[in-house]
Amino acid sequence: MSKTFDNLQESAAAIRTRIGSRAPTVGLILGSGLGAYADTLEDAAAVDYSAIPNFPVSTVEGHAGRLLVGNKGNTCCAALQGRVHFYEGHDARTLVFPLRTLITLGVKTFIITNAAGGIGHDPGTLMVISDHINMFPDHPLRGENDKRLGPRFPDMTNAYHPELQAIAHKAGKSLGVELASGVYAGLAGPSYETPAEIRMLRTMGASAAGMSTVPEVIAANHMGARVLGISCITNKAAGLSDQPLSHEEVTETAKQVHSTFIRLLDTIIKDLPSA
Ligand code: HPA
Repeated sequence: MSKTFDNLQESAAAIRTRIGSRAPTVGLILGSGLGAYADTLEDAAAVDYSAIPNFPVSTVEGHAGRLLVGNKGNTCCAALQGRVHFYEGHDARTLVFPLRTLITLGVKTFIITNAAGGIGHDPGTLMVISDHINMFPDHPLRGENDKRLGPRFPDMTNAYHPELQAIAHKAGKSLGVELASGVYAGLAGPSYETPAEIRMLRTMGASAAGMSTVPEVIAANHMGARVLGISCITNKAAGLSDQPLSHEEVTETAKQVHSTFIRLLDTIIKDLPSA
């Protein structure tokens, strides 16, 4: 058997000693510039990633790297404020360890957010992810499968759960926020795509391109957790505007939509079925 299962128990136990009686059922993975949502959790306990055994530590600017566990109304949420990325040098198995730890702690439903380049959708748009295309040269389930975590060949038909997508769209309507819907293409990075790659992705049916989310969504489905994915379209994808792409533009746009994003997430979490 792989060591992953035992490592997950160890990491979850370390977190439990720091979060008292809090028992999270909803997990939040917050992308570039969107991490401040975790600061809105009430009665929160914070645990630095560096204090959790086996957790990979992020090196990217703008990714704080801590777990916050606290409440939104009656729902206890565990938020990964900052995530590690493939382009930092971690393999896909390592990337998904924090998400697997939250499932080990009792999380059943994830809201996974990211910043992404728009292929058709304009900057400032929030896009409910309907499906993904895995363009990473790695897979989080590659290697030995531990049946205690999930099946060898998990079904990915409803990788982004239809009921959760419907809850997100309903929340958008009730707030008067127009939400897009589309397919997210996940790529290794860290360079942005070339215009030719974006044309290829458009032909393949992608509406957004980013450097995260896909490995986590695969691992969540592997373990039977449900996922809602939301992309914040922070820029037009390569070749679709005159401007060169920059990380500053990405974080700046994410900041601009932040208050809308908070209201949307608050409304969605209220409507989630109790786990
Ligand atoms: N491409 C890939 N990842 C991204 C982009 C992009 O245009 N914008 C934000 N993250």
